[in-house]
Amino acid sequence: MINRIYKIPFLFFLTQLCLFFCFISCESSTENGGSVKSRVQSDDMKVMHTRVIWTNEPSNHAIISWTSSDQGGRHLVQYVQSDQKPSESALRESVQSMRDGKISIDESKNQLNSEQGYFHHAEMVNLDPDSKYYFRVCSDDACSDIYWFRTAPLSGTDFSLLFGGDSRIGGNEVEYGHKSRHTERQIMNKNIATLVEKDPSILAFVHGADFCSNAEWRYLYWWFEDYEYTITSDNRILPLIISRGNHDMEIGFVENFWLGDISYKNSDGYYFNTEFSSDVNLITLNTETSLTGDQRKWLENELKRSRPQYKWLFVQYHKPAWPATKPFEREDFARIRKHWIPLLEEYDVDLVVESDGHTLKRTVPILNNKKDDKGIIYIGEGGLGVPQRKADPARWYFKDGGLATSAHHVWKMTFKNNSAQVSAIGIDRNILDQFTIRSKQ
Ligand SMILES: [Fe+2]
Ligand SMILES: [Fe+2]
Repeated sequence: MINRIYKIPFLFFLTQLCLFFCFISCESSTENGGSVKSRVQSDDMKVMHTRVIWTNEPSNHAIISWTSSDQGGRHLVQYVQSDQKPSESALRESVQSMRDGKISIDESKNQLNSEQGYFHHAEMVNLDPDSKYYFRVCSDDACSDIYWFRTAPLSGTDFSLLFGGDSRIGGNEVEYGHKSRHTERQIMNKNIATLVEKDPSILAFVHGADFCSNAEWRYLYWWFEDYEYTITSDNRILPLIISRGNHDMEIGFVENFWLGDISYKNSDGYYFNTEFSSDVNLITLNTETSLTGDQRKWLENELKRSRPQYKWLFVQYHKPAWPATKPFEREDFARIRKHWIPLLEEYDVDLVVESDGHTLKRTVPILNNKKDDKGIIYIGEGGLGVPQRKADPARWYFKDGGLATSAHHVWKMTFKNNSAQVSAIGIDRNILDQFTIRSKQ
């Protein structure tokens, strides 16, 4: 009799507990398959898509960007420098977002059911170099998990970098043989998380553009959802260095990839340098605006300034000077060869990363339109999940030492004294290509 009296409240308690855990698990999964990091929500607000963006000086500066589900009124980043994961109350520094707004959305094209979002961008400044920063983003009462990233060191080359491009989806499904629109991109993103977990010296991820089919929220929403797969199991976020491609030209790109003043420089900037340390500089160029004029002047000055100063000088941009699949003669590619390549050669750039073609490639060293051991090697050409095209290895700049094939990949660069090992890692995490370069400084 006594047992029966206690059984009823106990069963009620058990049911409530099941409902609670069911609610929690539903909230942390996407409609698009697979689960992403959990989100803390208030009644009306949720925050998502937390990311770290680097521009010029990643040893002391970072842009933190995120999406909220409602407009809200108060958006901030709470953070602290710490070697250990802090409690929420230990996140004693805070910075308000500098740029917020409703993300443009065309409901008539929103077949993928992207939720309405609001963009937020905050800048963390005066950070200490080579340090772990724990942070979370909050919109009103809703806050994200606590994530962390590492700032760049002041000097040295005791780190690795990842490079890749072309993670877009969508377009005409028939064209891509009815392949899943997301699967390969999600696998590549999970591979990036695994690479960082295995090698914590990986500092940042350089993305060579064509993020989505176009920069409308119906695609970007899912790109940001999928990008959360790159977050490691201990919530490390790999800072992104972004560039702009021909599929990134809509307003959603500027709304969601804000780089401070760079975003608006010359109306459509997105060209800048990133000093990973006093030994490593990366120049990001924009192939989707004028290659001459202000950008070329800036490039020449930046090359002149940085070649004598840095042991390693790299350049990345979207469209290829040395395409592996699209026609070599195309006017936009020829213009890169005409206006930029002579400068990159004059200032002895150590390596160039290109994207756009949806292939895996490594050229032979090129100087004055010929194979030359003193020339520049160009790698690429976009394989972060976008369906791969057939490459043409018969072109002269792939013969006798180059490579052109079709394979999803991400490039990893690791420095060793005066040399750097460059590896292409495939979708099965196998090494597809590997070579060593020596600093030209
Ligand atoms: Fe492209
Ligand atoms: Fe592309």
